[in-house]
Amino acid sequence: MELKITKWIIILLIFIILLFYLKLIPFFSHKFYRNIKEIKNPNDIKVLVNKNNRLKPDYIPPNLVKLKVSYSQEDKYLRKEAVLALEELIKDSRKLGFHLVVVSAYRSYEYQKNLYQHYVKTKGIEYADHCSARPGHSEHQTGLSFDIMGSNKDYNLFEKSKEFEWMSANAYKYGFILRYPKGKEHITGFKYEPWHYRYVGKTTAEKIFFKNLSLEEYRKKYS
Ligand code: DAL
Ligand code: ZN
Repeated sequence: MELKITKWIIILLIFIILLFYLKLIPFFSHKFYRNIKEIKNPNDIKVLVNKNNRLKPDYIPPNLVKLKVSYSQEDKYLRKEAVLALEELIKDSRKLGFHLVVVSAYRSYEYQKNLYQHYVKTKGIEYADHCSARPGHSEHQTGLSFDIMGSNKDYNLFEKSKEFEWMSANAYKYGFILRYPKGKEHITGFKYEPWHYRYVGKTTAEKIFFKNLSLEEYRKKYS
């Protein structure tokens, strides 16, 4: 009798583990967009904006500066700190024959809302949540993030450009991190984005780069 009960308990446990593995138990497997916190320090250079930390709809970053068209598509803005660092990066990359162009930078809450809705309408909510942040949850709203393309002129194909390798090895020296790295999708909540960089300052970027951390892991460990 006891043996039979043990057998059934083991079968039940295997069944639960299987459901969990197949993500059929949302309570355990979907930690994203749950227990959402309002961000208290939105101007902090190390601010963590993600699926669990939200910016207010009316949050506009201070000191937004327009990017020069020599390295950006028209009407793109970033915070002054990020622009100064980016201009250094662009200057050095040009000396080596690279051609980097910013294709997206600061995005308002409203802009992100429309962008996210567009993905939901055209590709469905699951796809949308994998690649686009819901309004208030995009770090593009901080004015510290940008998407970039290289000589092949398609940010979606940035990984295949010669600029990608240089950015991967050098961006941290200017204070930038690759925000959505490969292999950290379960932590960041977004698919790998080789084109999306985030300004965090040189000291932080160096630590994140050499310790191979996501911003989520860094913040948990150091602040
Ligand atoms: N693509 C990034 C996650 C965003 O929408 O902010
Ligand atoms: Zn981006």
